[in-house]
Amino acid sequence: MITRSADVNSVRKLLQKTARPLALVPTMGALHEGHLQLLRAARAKVGPQGTVAISIFVNPIQFDKASDLENYPQPIEEDLALCEAEGVDLAFTPERESLYQSDHSVIVQESLLTRHLCGASRTGHFDGVLTIVLKLFNILQPDFAIFGQKDFQQLALIHRMVRDLNLPVSVIGHPTVRAADGLALSSRNSRLQAHERADAARIRRALLAARDLRTSGEQNPQIYLNAARHHLLIDCPESFSIDYLELVDAETLQLVPTVTKPSFLATACFYGGVRLIDHIAL
Ligand code: PAF
Repeated sequence: MITRSADVNSVRKLLQKTARPLALVPTMGALHEGHLQLLRAARAKVGPQGTVAISIFVNPIQFDKASDLENYPQPIEEDLALCEAEGVDLAFTPERESLYQSDHSVIVQESLLTRHLCGASRTGHFDGVLTIVLKLFNILQPDFAIFGQKDFQQLALIHRMVRDLNLPVSVIGHPTVRAADGLALSSRNSRLQAHERADAARIRRALLAARDLRTSGEQNPQIYLNAARHHLLIDCPESFSIDYLELVDAETLQLVPTVTKPSFLATACFYGGVRLIDHIAL
C-alpha cells in the first residue's frame, strides 16, 4: 500500500520508521514508461525489504517560461495509481508552499557544466533543478537516487553537486527509454499534436545519421553538426525549430574543437511551444 505525504514535516516523521535502504526517484509527474523503469531500477537496488520513494513535484523555479509551467501536465491521480501498481512505498507530493517560503533566497548554482546546452538556452533552469534536488535529498535522505540519462546534463550536474557538496547519496543514471519509432519518452510528448508526434522521430534519426560519420573516423565537429542539422530540418513541419545543436565533451560538457574523445551530440528542438531534448554518444 502506497503512503502519500504532501507535507515536509509529516514525511520526516514517516521516514523515522521507514525501512532502509531507501531509493528515491525524483519526478515532476505525468509518469510514463521511462519513469516506471526508474521505479523498477529503484526496487532492484533496494530489494523487497527496502523502500522505494517517488517525489512528484512540478518545480516552479526550474521553468524559464511561465507558459511551459502552466501547460505542464499534472495527472496526479493517474500517477499515484501507476505508483501503486509498481509497488512504490512512499510518494512525496508536496505543495509549493510547503517547499518554498515566499521569501526564499538561497539557490544552488553551478558554474562550469551549465555553460552550454540547456544551461545556456534555459537561463536559471539548472539552478532550479539543483536546488529542488538538494532539498529532496535533505528531506528524504535517500541512500540511492535514480535519474534518467536522457537529461544527461542534469545527471552530470547532480553527480557534480553530490561530489562537490559531499552529499551522502549514491546517484544512478538509467538508460533512456524510447518509443518504437525512437523518440525518447518524455512527459512533454503528450503535448505534441498528432502530426508533430508522428514527425518527432526525426530527432533520433538525425542524431543516428550524424553518428554514422564516426565510422569513417571524422574528427571535425562541424561535419557532424551539419549532418544532424540537415536531417533535423529537411521537410520539417512549420512548427519545428532547433533551439540548440551542439557537440560537447562527454565529461566536461564543453564544446570540442575536434572529436577525439568521447563526446555527446545533443539537441533541443521545438514543436511550437513543446521543447524536446535528445543526445547521442559519439
Ligand atoms: O528530471 C526531472 O523530472 C526534474 O528536473 C527533477 C529532477 C525531478 C527536478 O525537478
